[in-house]
Amino acid sequence: MVTQRQPWHVVKPSKLHGNGVFALRDIPSGTRILQYAGKRLTPEQADALFPVNPDEPFHTFFFALSNGKIVDGGQGGNDSRWINHSCAPNCEGHENQDGSRVFIVAMRDIAAGEELLYDYSLVIDDEITEELKQNYRCLCGAAQCRGTMIAPLPSAEERAQAAADELREVAAELDAEMEQARKTPVKAKAKKAAARPKATPQTDKDVSNLPQESAEQKNSESEIEEDKKDKKEKKDKKKKKEKSKNKDKKKSKDKDKKADKKDKEGKKAKKGRKKE
Ligand SMILES: C[S@@+](CC[C@H](N)C(=O)[O-])C[C@H]1O[C@@H](n2cnc3c(N)ncnc32)[C@H](O)[C@@H]1O
Ligand SMILES: [Zn+2]
Repeated sequence: MVTQRQPWHVVKPSKLHGNGVFALRDIPSGTRILQYAGKRLTPEQADALFPVNPDEPFHTFFFALSNGKIVDGGQGGNDSRWINHSCAPNCEGHENQDGSRVFIVAMRDIAAGEELLYDYSLVIDDEITEELKQNYRCLCGAAQCRGTMIAPLPSAEERAQAAADELREVAAELDAEMEQARKTPVKAKAKKAAARPKATPQTDKDVSNLPQESAEQKNSESEIEEDKKDKKEKKDKKKKKEKSKNKDKKKSKDKDKKADKKDKEGKKAKKGRKKE
C-alpha cells in the first residue's frame, strides 16, 4: 500500500500581508517543509523584471541563492512564494550543497495553525537610506522587529573583519605580483632600471605580462635608453664641474641650481623625444 505524505502547510489569507502559509499540523523542528521553487534568473534578468506590480513596486517573490542565481517564485513557483517575512522567524532557508536549491526548514517546533515565517534579510546593492527601509517596511510586530525586511547592517566587528580580509587579499595579490616579477628573466641593465625610483610597479607588471619576445624587445629598448641617459649624465656632470670651478658661491645654492638645471634638462629631453 502506498501512503501519500500529508502536506505540512496550507495557504490562506494572513493578517500580516495578503496570503500567508500556515502549519496544517504540528511541525517538528528541523523539518524540511517545502522547496522554494521558481524560475532561475540572473541578477540582470531579475533587475529587468522588477517591479512586477506597479501598485506595490517593492513586492518581491525573489529568493537569492549563494550560487549567484535568483529564484523567482512568481514564475513556476509553489506555495512557498506566499510565506511572509518576520524579524522573529520560525523557519529559515537551507541550501543544498552546491547552492542551487533552497528549502524552507522549521527552526523550532511549530504548532498547528501558526503562520510560517522566515527572515527575508533582503540584500540591496544601493546605500540603505531611511526611505529604502520604508519601502521594504516590516509589519511583523515582533518585539525585536527591525522595522524593515532589509538585512541588518553588519556590526562594527563584522565590518572590521571584512576590512581585514580585504587587506589580506590585496597583500596576497601584491606578493603574487612580486613573485612573478622575481621569476621574470631580466638582463642586468633592465634590472638596474627597475631598481630606480622612477620605475613604477606598473611598468614592471607590464613587462612581466608581455610574451617573452616582446619583453626582451622592451628590455633592449630600455637598455639603449639607459645608455643614452648615462652618457648624457656624464657629460652634464663634466660641464657642471668645469662651471663650478669658476664660481664662488655657497655649496647649497650651487646644489639647488644644479638640481633646477637637471630638472629643466629632463623636461626638455622628454619634450624632444615626444616630437620625434
Ligand atoms: C513572497 S511575498 C509573500 C506573500 C505575500 N503576502 C503576498 O500575498 O503576495 C513577499 C511580499 O509580501 C509582503 N510581506 C511579507 N512579509 C511582510 C512583512 N513582515 N511586513 C510587510 N510586508 C510583508 C511584502 O510586500 C513582500 O514583498
Ligand atoms: Zn519585523
